[in-house]
Amino acid sequence: MPDYGIAGKRAVVTGGSRGIGAAIVTQLLAAGATVLTTARSAGPAPEGASFVQADVRTRAGAQTIASAAQEVLGGVDLLIHNAGGARPHPSALEIPDDEWQDALSVNLLAAVRLDALLAPGMRERRSGSIVHISTAAIRPPFPPFLHYVAAKTALEAYSQGLAAELAPAGVRVNTVSPGRTATPGGVATREQWASLSSGGLDLPGVPLGRDGDPDDIANAVLFLLSDQANWLTGSGLAVDGGEYPR
Ligand SMILES: NC(=O)c1ccc[n+]([C@@H]2O[C@H](COP(=O)([O-])OP(=O)(O)OC[C@H]3O[C@@H](n4cnc5c(N)ncnc54)[C@H](OP(=O)(O)O)[C@@H]3O)[C@@H](O)[C@H]2O)c1
Repeated sequence: MPDYGIAGKRAVVTGGSRGIGAAIVTQLLAAGATVLTTARSAGPAPEGASFVQADVRTRAGAQTIASAAQEVLGGVDLLIHNAGGARPHPSALEIPDDEWQDALSVNLLAAVRLDALLAPGMRERRSGSIVHISTAAIRPPFPPFLHYVAAKTALEAYSQGLAAELAPAGVRVNTVSPGRTATPGGVATREQWASLSSGGLDLPGVPLGRDGDPDDIANAVLFLLSDQANWLTGSGLAVDGGEYPR
């Protein structure tokens, strides 16, 4: 494993009990970080990580995570907001109001709140790195997912602006946008999407010939968190096997 400069760093990862979040936690631990992760259900987190049960859709959930981070880690150097997702609907006009609220809360506002709680410490120490997980499927903006696409698009715009604000303090903010990745959430969402049409889901093949593995996404996250990305901020990496060229 390359020397990421991550050994000894204190990291918070949302949604680390499975899928992409669990791969990020596992790779951070292997690189020598101390990790606190979180989910709504009671874990389990990958072995070696600390865990706090919290729902990032609420302000109280973000506060619970920030308090646990202070207690367990004594401060945060690396923040990865990974928890996210949304359920597809047959028409954009039929997405219920509460699902719009949920999509905006988990995909956008959770990042905004956690950053507000945890980035000031990074700014004071003049060091820190934040990665927000977006999606490569923003373009085309698939109608069954407009609540999700709108929230992730806003997350990317917000991340770029925050990167500009925090850059003078040496704190970096970047996004990683996964394509089709083999996770419990990703597989379930594509099954729900397929069930909306009698013909099933007719997506073109992934140019690199396979769906992503959670480690494919975690590799990009670790790179952006690492010293090797010291001159990268306000940037976005699409990790999608070539499906959505930017
Ligand atoms: N997999 C894909 O194909 C794909 C493609 C593009 C983008 N992404 C993005 O990648 C990220 C991870 O996706 P994934 O496929 O790994 O998802 P996943 O398999 O569903 O795992 C989601 C993780 O987040 C936690 N979580 C969900 N809602 C939460 C909440 N409100 N509060 C706290 N924790 C919560 C889950 O635990 P609990 O359920 O117990 O809370 C779980 O640990 C998401 O932001 C997603 O939008 C995924």
